[in-house]
Amino acid sequence: MDSGWAPPSWEGPGLYALPGQGEGGHDRLGRLPSRSGSFAGGTGAWLDRLGGLRNFVRQELVSRQLAEQLAGRSGQRVLDIGCGQGTQALRLARAGHYVTGIDSDPVALGVAQGALAEEPPEVRGRLQLLSGDGHQCGRWFGPRSFDVVICHGVLTYLPDPDPMIASLARLLAPGGLLSLLVRNRDALALRPAAAGDWRAALHAFESDRYYNRLGLAARADRLADLSVTLSEVSVPLRHWYGVRVFTDNAPDDATPPVDGRQLAQLLEAEDRAGRTDPYRQIAALLHVIGAK
Ligand SMILES: C[S@@+](CC[C@H](N)C(=O)[O-])C[C@H]1O[C@@H](n2cnc3c(N)ncnc32)[C@H](O)[C@@H]1O
Repeated sequence: MDSGWAPPSWEGPGLYALPGQGEGGHDRLGRLPSRSGSFAGGTGAWLDRLGGLRNFVRQELVSRQLAEQLAGRSGQRVLDIGCGQGTQALRLARAGHYVTGIDSDPVALGVAQGALAEEPPEVRGRLQLLSGDGHQCGRWFGPRSFDVVICHGVLTYLPDPDPMIASLARLLAPGGLLSLLVRNRDALALRPAAAGDWRAALHAFESDRYYNRLGLAARADRLADLSVTLSEVSVPLRHWYGVRVFTDNAPDDATPPVDGRQLAQLLEAEDRAGRTDPYRQIAALLHVIGAK
């Protein structure tokens, strides 16, 4: 069916044109991080763990929360910056939205392309995948080009989230939604403490920098700080959720329960915790929604 939709014009690099990437950061010497690095070097481990319990819970919770925020909105123009393997971009395209996914990593984009190729033609026609650095999106798309902009698991690797948030805000049409998924700085000590790494737990009280489970130097955000930034860019906080309250400390190789009832109960428990105080305040990840 011809929807009449044309993807927003794109003058950036073509698919698989890899822009320059910064350094990664493994803590092989037992050092604690003083700065965040980049996602480069983490793609292999990230993709290897996509079928694991922790990513499963993350993607399911984020999907439910996005669906709740998008209730009553159909055929939205969505930009997914750092779409990676394309989990959310694909789900949004299946739901009838018109999605542009951008990622700087050709391997992750290749996985997204492979998944998209399995979709029926009408879904394929609603999702375009592009290679590029999200920092440049203001050069490629005009102001107010999108109804929804999502940026999940990307700000974590930037030294300062504010410039990216400001450029994403400019791309939003009036009434548009900005969806950010970040590491929760207010709960940063919980993960190392659960692992018995007391030095890293103490470090987490002093710093927003940490090494994540991919071995990458990363950075966490406080809800209060993001709320100020969102107000400053005229996309004030509309709602926020916690993601992964109970399963964050599951081993990397833990898989979702095969028993369908257990799986449903697990997701229901995480879903409830992610929207209930005080549980959501200590979630590993924050899903923050701003509205223009
Ligand atoms: C942790 S993965 C998250 C993927 C996906 N958003 C999700 O939540 O499942 C982070 C992704 O962001 C991409 N990324 C990081 N910095 C980026 C940037 N400046 N521009 C575009 N993509 C970026 C990485 O290549 C990687 O695929």
